[in-house]
Amino acid sequence: MKEQLKRYGISLIASFGIFAILSFYLFLRRGYYDLFIANKALAGTAFVLLAFVLLVGLLARYFVRFDGWLIYRKEIGIVAFVFALAHGVVSFLIPQFNLFSWAALANVNLWLGGLALLILLFLTVISGNWAIQKFGVQKWWFFQQWGARLALILVLYHVFLMKYGGWADWFIHGGSKTLARPYLPPLSLFSFLPAIFVVVVRLGEFFGPKIGKVIFFASLSLLAAAYLISFLWWLV
Ligand code: HEM
Repeated sequence: MKEQLKRYGISLIASFGIFAILSFYLFLRRGYYDLFIANKALAGTAFVLLAFVLLVGLLARYFVRFDGWLIYRKEIGIVAFVFALAHGVVSFLIPQFNLFSWAALANVNLWLGGLALLILLFLTVISGNWAIQKFGVQKWWFFQQWGARLALILVLYHVFLMKYGGWADWFIHGGSKTLARPYLPPLSLFSFLPAIFVVVVRLGEFFGPKIGKVIFFASLSLLAAAYLISFLWWLV
């Protein structure tokens, strides 16, 4: 019990740390901070945590030193759900999204986000030992693994469909003049890229550990290059 509380404590501290960093970045970029901005930081934190949960198993399989991180998966997954839930609820409170409308009901992006949220809710509900006993280890593990994978894919779509126009704008025209620091790239790019990295390295595992590791390091270098390019685009 004490051990589990400690794990929740560490997961919460790490998650609020990520939330604080994302919030600060958005504040620097926009020059103000309100519910609209906090909502982006909530969403970004949930996205990064979900991607991390799917990455950590692979890290432990490739590198012994990450073995100790495996025990945090459950708590980080639950905290990811709480951040995603907060993002979903807050999105309904922001007038410019107008989510209590027929137009919102027809918006595929929102359905994708909603479905991902339901999957995370399901995984949270069945995270206890009672569920392992009820379903059996194999079935339970199947639900957890494929649930998290499906949720990540849905969120990738959710974000991509909403944000790719803004990313294209950033690379073609640069940041909007209304921003306090237009040379800073959109935050969504920074949560999207690592999630893509996780998908690529997980797919790389299908080729066995040797090629998988090569794909891991190649993708990590590409991720670093993508960050650099995104940042330096308007400075060079
Ligand atoms: C009922 C469920 C959901 C609703 C109604 C919803 C709604 C929204 C809305 C309105 C935006 C646009 C925000 C903006 O441009 O400022 C957005 C963006 C986003 N959402 Fe969701 N979402 C839901 C679920 C999720 C889930 C489950 C995740 C992640 C686990 C997620 C991650 C994101 C991310 C990363 C962004 C981009 C934020 C940014 O601009 O930096 N969403 N969502």
